[in-house]
Amino acid sequence: MAVAKDCFRVHSGHALQGTTTVPGDKSLSHRAVMFGALAQGTSHIKGWLAAGDTEASLGAIQALGVHVERHSAHELTIAGGQLHPPQGALDLVNAGTGIRLLAGIMAGQPFASVLDGSEQLRRRPMNRIIQPLGLMGAEIHSTNGYVPLRITPTHLRGIGYTMPMASAQVKSAILLAALFADGETTVTQPGPARDHTERMLAAMGAKLTVDGNTVVVQPGSTLKAINFTVPADISSAAFPLVAALIVPDSDITLTNINLNPTRTGLLDVLGEMGADITITETGLEAGEPVGTIRARTSSLRGVRVGGEVVVRMIDEFPIFMVASLFADGETFVKDAGELRVKETDRIAVMVAELVKLGAAISETDDGFYLFGRQKLTGATVDGHDDHRISMSLTIAALTAHGDSTVLDARCAGDSFPGFADVMRGIGADVVVEDVA
Ligand code: S3P
Repeated sequence: MAVAKDCFRVHSGHALQGTTTVPGDKSLSHRAVMFGALAQGTSHIKGWLAAGDTEASLGAIQALGVHVERHSAHELTIAGGQLHPPQGALDLVNAGTGIRLLAGIMAGQPFASVLDGSEQLRRRPMNRIIQPLGLMGAEIHSTNGYVPLRITPTHLRGIGYTMPMASAQVKSAILLAALFADGETTVTQPGPARDHTERMLAAMGAKLTVDGNTVVVQPGSTLKAINFTVPADISSAAFPLVAALIVPDSDITLTNINLNPTRTGLLDVLGEMGADITITETGLEAGEPVGTIRARTSSLRGVRVGGEVVVRMIDEFPIFMVASLFADGETFVKDAGELRVKETDRIAVMVAELVKLGAAISETDDGFYLFGRQKLTGATVDGHDDHRISMSLTIAALTAHGDSTVLDARCAGDSFPGFADVMRGIGADVVVEDVA
């Protein structure tokens, strides 16, 4: 029997209007359950993202014997303080953040563990964490640097480490292992990768200091339980936001969005492109600035993107590529080679799929360039089991002449469950359907 698969059917030509929000921040939701599990006492989390990736982290924490009470899909309490040896392998499914952060924690435990995941996760590079954790004394066996990871208990020592790439996952794995090490650990990153781990651990009482791109952790502090509401994910907000900029006669407002400056590179670059965006900070949640973003249809200009801003918008490049198709003149992106080791090779996959919609884009090793003011034509495209690809193609299809089908809609739920509902709520004609 053929397995039914979801797709997005997209009918273009509807202006986007209204006020909406998006689900909770994925990076914060992973960290909330993991750090809550390490803390003494009960942490209470509201606005938690109940999505494929974060449910995988939550499942792993429960498999480590941590009691989690689920008050609703988005509200949970975590009784932290003690991890227990798991019965079998911990399955992180597609979650790169989940497996890399958990590896840092598991390296510091007095019991063995195996961390595994989906076929997709098994293709993602793990040497970037195995190597620095190994310098700390961790024993992690992998298959040539790929998942599954078999971790045996050892004694960890603090290190001074300069990261070869700007990656919050790598930084976080080291900082988490450092909590269990003898002596101080210093991590220096080449650029300002998202700093949620530093903010949350510091709020929970970890002895951690940040000086520019360097983070220092002293081991041995007892983490206090934490209570907070997860703000909405700017990486999910990026989809309706860019849609409003490129679909004619649109004017939307997105509320309660996490505006942590290590995550707002896309807003800065769109601002440089002349996007009509108004950002209003409304407060702080869990030490993270939160606010409202209003976006209106805009005449965009092409832009050159490279250097430090790249890491502050790393997850937004697929949707940024869509925005740049409609800008006046050339857009040129460099220093974004990390895109090639995400859930998919996001440069190659986006170029291949947008070409099916009639776009003209040239790939480089670490980015792409294109000339804007392009016209798209409806087509059938493939999401490649990559949530951000599937949603970016759906937004592109909203501007196309004619209807489109985006195969592989289900994966949008890895980070943004209800994506089609949110888009329909502001007037887009996007429906989820089964295809045989
Ligand atoms: C994340 C870090 C980034 C990002 C991912 C989430 C995190 O990955 O792409 O979606 O929560 O730490 P890298 O650390 O590989 O850049």
